[in-house]
Amino acid sequence: MNEYVQKVKAAAEFLKAKVGNLPEVGVVLGSGLGKIADVLQEPQRFHYSEIPGFPVSTAPGHKGELIFGKLGKKNVVLMNGRFHYYEGYSMQEVTFPIRVMQLLGVKYLFVTNASGGLNPVFDVGKPMIITDHINFMHDNPLRGPNVEEWGPRFPDMSVPYDRELIKLAKMAAQEEKIDVYAGVYVAVTGPNFETPAELKMFRNLGADAVGMSTVPEVIVARHAGIKVLGLSAITDRAVPEDLKPLSAEEVLEVAEKTGEKMARIILRVIEHL
Ligand code: HPA
Repeated sequence: MNEYVQKVKAAAEFLKAKVGNLPEVGVVLGSGLGKIADVLQEPQRFHYSEIPGFPVSTAPGHKGELIFGKLGKKNVVLMNGRFHYYEGYSMQEVTFPIRVMQLLGVKYLFVTNASGGLNPVFDVGKPMIITDHINFMHDNPLRGPNVEEWGPRFPDMSVPYDRELIKLAKMAAQEEKIDVYAGVYVAVTGPNFETPAELKMFRNLGADAVGMSTVPEVIVARHAGIKVLGLSAITDRAVPEDLKPLSAEEVLEVAEKTGEKMARIILRVIEHL
């Protein structure tokens, strides 16, 4: 653990020395959701391989860079390409960038992802504001010795997704005339998509969308006291009765289309912070 702490600190120190304006807002861009990177002002890019200690991403559609810059008046850092548990990374590796953001002083984290819609009324191609989550990954990034300077041993999870940010996101969607859903996200390890029986179970557990990311990052962000907004692009119908064979290409294609809407919501919320 000590080695991990040193690595995170080294990455943060490296970036602090090079980045003029340290970010207040962090944004994790999910698969196919890189759109917002196009509107970042004064971008300063760091490929993950340049940053000491940083893992390197392998998933298709993932670029693997941290981009610092401005969105409106706010200094932000975009994580373009995340680390997935299914790629074989440990939970600590998956959440390494969030720890770096914590040490850089990030106060707000916006996480995005692509997910399957378990709720039968959900149409594909629309965003869902995440109101709560279920960790079904059977692992936890906080397992092991607690780093007291980073957060408490038993962090509260009564408000995983910030209520004020959810309100702002709903307002932003209205202003932008974008239809959004709100609901519970369940995280699985993947990499296979779910069986019909699994989808039925997740729906019965109270989930509205299923995906393979986000929850580890949110757990670490909450441990760090960072306020979180989660947005999920519903890329396919994960409803057992009308389940069709699903490919990663299809998910990426819909995510790319939905990404533009999510970018507009995020930009508005940042304006209102
Ligand atoms: N299941 C799991 N992860 C996903 C899905 C899905 O249906 N769609 C996009 N990511």
